[in-house]
Amino acid sequence: MSVPPATATDPVVRVDHLVKRYGHGEHAHLAVDDVSFTLAPGRTLALVGESGAGKSTIGSILTGLHAATSGTVEVCGEDRSRPARSTRLRRHRGSLLQLVAQDPFTSLDPRQKIGSALAEAVALHHPLDRARRHERVLELLDAVGLAVHHADVTPRALSGGQRQRVAIARALAARPRVVVLDEAVSALDVSVQAQVLNLLNDLQASTGTAYVFITHDLAVVRQIAHDVIVLRHGRIVESGSTEDILDRPQQRYTRLLLESTPRHGWTPVPSRPCV
Ligand SMILES: Nc1ncnc2c1ncn2[C@@H]1O[C@H](COP(=O)(O)OP(=O)(O)OP(=O)(O)O)[C@@H](O)[C@H]1O
Ligand SMILES: [Mg+2]
Repeated sequence: MSVPPATATDPVVRVDHLVKRYGHGEHAHLAVDDVSFTLAPGRTLALVGESGAGKSTIGSILTGLHAATSGTVEVCGEDRSRPARSTRLRRHRGSLLQLVAQDPFTSLDPRQKIGSALAEAVALHHPLDRARRHERVLELLDAVGLAVHHADVTPRALSGGQRQRVAIARALAARPRVVVLDEAVSALDVSVQAQVLNLLNDLQASTGTAYVFITHDLAVVRQIAHDVIVLRHGRIVESGSTEDILDRPQQRYTRLLLESTPRHGWTPVPSRPCV
């Protein structure tokens, strides 16, 4: 299957009137309610909003975990409103769009060495001989700031930030056009978070990969996103450039969300002892 020819400005993601309802009848829950957006190559779109806003649901339809109830979702011009039925189509879709989730521990095999996990991801999408595959694994480790010796360890021997770098390297092994990052830095402490965000920015500058960056934490949005969509109860509250949304929010809900975001650099004051 070949990727349709794309121009530099064609959106890599096009979501049109997307609706997702979980369950049926009186137990049905409308998780995504008429959401539309596009994402251009090499750009980062942040999906923000409180817990339950529908952010991950949109990500899960993009990644093919769930079907849309109605509306359309296209990646590189190809419809993916329903999950792929065949392994071949799933693999093809994986070559265009990859997911990096919050906790790589759940997606990385704890017994598999990092080098072998990356080699597997490379082999899935690119038929290279053993030597070139190994070269590509070293290239990926280098791209995410890990050392050659990390190929020989299991995830257990890595810090949270290093594990997230492995998850990013594994996503990049496919050379995707789009990476969906669902709370990908939320579990990391602020300084490691900043390193991983810098890494993502550098990788985007060198590869042109577009990101859908899902987060409940508005503090990280300025460091990574060009554009922002604010979601509440599955609906778009407002959307625009990161500067407009963060510095000149038009909606009361966005202002409340911004006010409830702890500023980086806040220093906790030790509580007084009991005696
Ligand atoms: N598989 C599912 N079955 C039924 N309801 C679901 C399912 N997944 C999500 N939901 C519901 O849909 C709504 C949106 O959930 P979603 O996980 O998309 O929110 P979110 O914005 O990612 O939240 P969080 O910030 O907590 O991750 C929630 O009310 C949730 O309970
Ligand atoms: Mg979520």
